[in-house]
Amino acid sequence: MTIFVAEKSYKNKMTTLVFASNNAHKLDEIRSILGDKFIIKSLKEIGCEVDIPETADTFRGNALQKAQYIKEHFGYDCFADDSGLQVECLDNLPGVFSARFADKYSKKFGVDPAKLGDDKDTRNTACLLHRLNAIGAFDEGKHPKACFRTSIALIYDGKEQFFDGIVEGYIISEKRGNGGFGYDPVFVPEGYDKTFAELGNDIKNSISHRARAVAKLAEFLKK
Ligand code: IMP
Repeated sequence: MTIFVAEKSYKNKMTTLVFASNNAHKLDEIRSILGDKFIIKSLKEIGCEVDIPETADTFRGNALQKAQYIKEHFGYDCFADDSGLQVECLDNLPGVFSARFADKYSKKFGVDPAKLGDDKDTRNTACLLHRLNAIGAFDEGKHPKACFRTSIALIYDGKEQFFDGIVEGYIISEKRGNGGFGYDPVFVPEGYDKTFAELGNDIKNSISHRARAVAKLAEFLKK
């Protein structure tokens, strides 16, 4: 989950966006997508450090919950996003549980979370691959369909709006590549034969779910 706070600078016609995330990869990615038309600041840079609850069961719901919290507690027009991976044959899991998939589901899937790896991304990806293997999703060379999805909720001039981005693709049975973060090493986007982790930031940033949602937001903000 990421929080942005938008403020317009009428002097230079640039939009300053405060982007809150503990994920350095995402901060880089957003900066690269928005380019030099936007000034990106983290919430830390404006002295805001809060752990806002996200308890909705949709990406839009979580994004709006965060944006409303910022508006209510800090008074800024702002926007927030929520993203995740949806795998069709898992009824769209990990979905809103993408960031904590292993913690929430590994026991249900009969796996000891401690055995899945040291860091969160490794555990989540291992949990996903374990489940897909267990239900035979890779049998006979099959590629389970999946998509990454981002929803951005914007509260601006007293109005709430959403900007959604989606990238379709499939999951492979073994991790490939060292770039990106999260589920990138096992996700191959449609039209490519490499994972997001192999494609590198430039290509990922031009086609990713977040890129598509942020492009819609940027188009709106530029107007
Ligand atoms: P967030 O809401 O954008 O922080 O994303 C929640 C979780 O979804 C992350 O912790 C990742 O596990 C996963 N995720 C979101 N976007 C990506 C991506 O671009 N690549 C890989 N994993 C992602």
